[in-house]
Amino acid sequence: MNTINNNSIYDNNKDSLSNSKYIMNDGKGFSKKISNEVRGKRFKDKFAVITGAKGDFGRVCSERIAEEGGNLILWDLHPMDEIINDLKNKFHNQIFQSSVLDICKEEDVLEATEKAYHDFQKIDLLFNNAGYQGDFKNTLEYTTHDFQKIININVVGAFIVMREIGKIMKEQKPQGGSIVNTASMAGIGAPPNMVAYASSKAAVKHMSVIASKDLAEFNIRVNSISPAFIGPGFMWTRQVELQAKAGSQFFSSDPNEVAKQMINDVPMKRYGTIDEVINPVLFLLSDESSYITGTDIKITGGI
Ligand SMILES: NC(=O)c1ccc[n+]([C@@H]2O[C@H](COP(=O)([O-])OP(=O)(O)OC[C@H]3O[C@@H](n4cnc5c(N)ncnc54)[C@H](O)[C@@H]3O)[C@@H](O)[C@H]2O)c1
Repeated sequence: MNTINNNSIYDNNKDSLSNSKYIMNDGKGFSKKISNEVRGKRFKDKFAVITGAKGDFGRVCSERIAEEGGNLILWDLHPMDEIINDLKNKFHNQIFQSSVLDICKEEDVLEATEKAYHDFQKIDLLFNNAGYQGDFKNTLEYTTHDFQKIININVVGAFIVMREIGKIMKEQKPQGGSIVNTASMAGIGAPPNMVAYASSKAAVKHMSVIASKDLAEFNIRVNSISPAFIGPGFMWTRQVELQAKAGSQFFSSDPNEVAKQMINDVPMKRYGTIDEVINPVLFLLSDESSYITGTDIKITGGI
């Protein structure tokens, strides 16, 4: 009978990864190991900036970070007094602040960033999430004005916010932070009639990877999320209705049919909930993902 001689295929002395020659010196490299969070209170004593805070993702993310002990600095084009009051009523010992601003206006972002740093001396987390979907039209009918508006908000505005908050994360002591940029499955799947939005979100995904490399030496992690069909909510309804109106060969002109067509493409045969988007966002923001940077998480039900 033939017997397998294990030593011939794996020599423990020569090949074992536990052999001391493979052990890296602890403390080498510029990125610190982080593992000091309390489970269930992942954001205790942290300060988080959330853009697009008045919108569907922003509101849920704010509430979820607050539930886990975090303090919040909320930014949006629209006043957030109701959200702030609601948070203050529910979470008495945390700090909640909001600024009405346009992320495309560099001076406004600078001013709000300086105010946050002045007031709290640190910003640990950024959910860089404000965004605009734009028109749904054939590429040949897409206006330069709308294309520029979308790129300005989704790419240039998101870049300005990431850069300015990144500077604070670099400057503060201890140095570091976690940034999550909101991209979209549109940036990967390239749906018809969305030439500007899909291009802008591809740029957000790419920008996140580059920033993850540039900011790693400052102990700042940068990741992105790419959600697909998420509902119910403003963007889901808007895209169903506008794809129906766009009159393309790809979608029906009846919004109900469009909704079915979209969901039929999803292996899980349903849209995702906003909480199902925010769960991975919180994971990426928290120390649970302390060795993850430059990654995009697709939140798509399998597309
Ligand atoms: N909901 C979805 O199905 C879905 C899917 C993929 C990606 N996304 C992306 O997720 C993000 C949030 O989406 P949502 O569903 O919460 O949308 P939403 O429309 O409910 O919220 C977006 C928020 O961003 C704010 N905003 C827009 N332009 C701004 C600007 N220039 N300055 C400051 N604030 C601005 C708006 O006022 C709004 O409150 C967006 O970037 C969107 O593109 C959404």
